[in-house]
Amino acid sequence: MKPRILLVDDQVSFCRHAKTILVGEGYETTLAHDAGQALEKLSGQSFDILVTDMKMPGMDGLALFMKARKMDSDISGIIMTAYGSISSAVDSIKQGVSDYIQKPFEPEVLLMTIEKTLRERRMIQEIHHLRQAVNQRYSYGNIIGKNHKMQDVFHLIEKVAPTASRVFITGETGVGKELVAKAIHFNSPRKNKPFVGINCGALSETLLETEMFGHEQGAFTGAARCKQGKFEYAHGGTLFLDEVGDISPALQVKLLRATQENAIERVGGNHSIDVDVRIISATNQDIQEKIKNRSFRMELFYRLNVVAIRIPPLRERIDDIPLLVNHFIQTLNRKFDKNIQGASTRAMKQLMQHNWPGNVRELENVLERAFVTTDGAVIDVVEFSHSFQRPVETENLYPVDTDIPFKIAMAMVQQRFEKSYLLETLKQCGGNVSKSSEKMELNPRTLWRKIKEYQIDRSEFTSQE
Ligand SMILES: Nc1ncnc2c1ncn2[C@@H]1O[C@H](COP(=O)(O)OP(=O)(O)OP(=O)(O)O)[C@@H](O)[C@H]1O
Ligand SMILES: [Mg+2]
Repeated sequence: MKPRILLVDDQVSFCRHAKTILVGEGYETTLAHDAGQALEKLSGQSFDILVTDMKMPGMDGLALFMKARKMDSDISGIIMTAYGSISSAVDSIKQGVSDYIQKPFEPEVLLMTIEKTLRERRMIQEIHHLRQAVNQRYSYGNIIGKNHKMQDVFHLIEKVAPTASRVFITGETGVGKELVAKAIHFNSPRKNKPFVGINCGALSETLLETEMFGHEQGAFTGAARCKQGKFEYAHGGTLFLDEVGDISPALQVKLLRATQENAIERVGGNHSIDVDVRIISATNQDIQEKIKNRSFRMELFYRLNVVAIRIPPLRERIDDIPLLVNHFIQTLNRKFDKNIQGASTRAMKQLMQHNWPGNVRELENVLERAFVTTDGAVIDVVEFSHSFQRPVETENLYPVDTDIPFKIAMAMVQQRFEKSYLLETLKQCGGNVSKSSEKMELNPRTLWRKIKEYQIDRSEFTSQE
């Protein structure tokens, strides 16, 4: 598309002359002889650049530009000023005008100024696009992650946020469950209403009950006044039930009733209070196990787990570590008023090799400690705390059956591993073999052979989405 220029000047002969030159250079040029005419043209059509005289009867060039910006925030402005009125020209730059030209000028000067402004516009647009792409790829608000499992989490958040569906978040300690819960709330239509959190694991049964549902005056000794519970506080907003797996069986029944009836009863009360609350729950425990051994009610789980979000542990997304490290370094630089540039290769390698039982929270702590002890421009020494160590390290080991001879067992595991790796890669690449072979850094011919060997049906992945 040709760049579109609106040229405004009260000197008719100048306008005609300039138009011939601009059209000759391939610009679509429209003329106006005062601000009123210009505004009329601006309301009917969009332009890339407004080139206007500063001094005009009625509204001056700068005021015209400001009005034009209100109508179209993308329009750029060039102002033509008479000799000797530089200060007003400088003022206009402060107001967002791209450039000014002093009259009288040679046609080349006008052309050069327009070209420069167009170049700047293209650059700004490019930066804008890049920034959007980067944001989309590497974060969701303040949640960082480019790993495909985190991308799946972002997509789920995006899909579920606008709805009122209950969400059940699972993941080990420190993976970002609360962060995700908040992201859902603050991207939902309830964002201007409260986000209220309860840590169900930290309170005794009776305290938790009054925290959740409130109590009436005189409900128990010490209940001098009636008190609203968190359900009532969260009315219209979101209630975040953290460590939901710790709720006692008796309280689970009450909670189940509240989710069925969208109403609660205060402790010691005898009437029900309607509440409009979206519940997001989270746990780092194995909730299925709790259902199996009957310490968590299945009906309640079904009511809370309408949409399930599993946040992977950090060791399953080590490709996110460099990004997270940069993110935390920036935050810590602000906090400690330092200017640390990054982590050394050696430190980064250590960070990538650690198994992160405390997940992102542990990474945050490790970096904060390193920050305090670093004097140089980069973090070079990292120390891992023992407090996050897993008590039972065998948890991560592969289950083995020693009745099968070692060589055969090894071959079986290898085959299963190969097939799983292949399937996952093909899935990520939409079934495309050359893309997959590139990703796996494997010869395409070898990949084809393995696909055949494992009888993999690629069409399963090509038809997805
Ligand atoms: N993807 C991420 N990007 C940026 N910061 C993160 C990310 N994940 C977690 N964090 C940060 O790590 C810390 C722990 O996160 P959060 O409290 O949400 O974890 P959690 O899963 O609720 O942990 P717990 O089970 O111990 O309650 C927070 O400071 C959070 O801001
Ligand atoms: Mg938490």
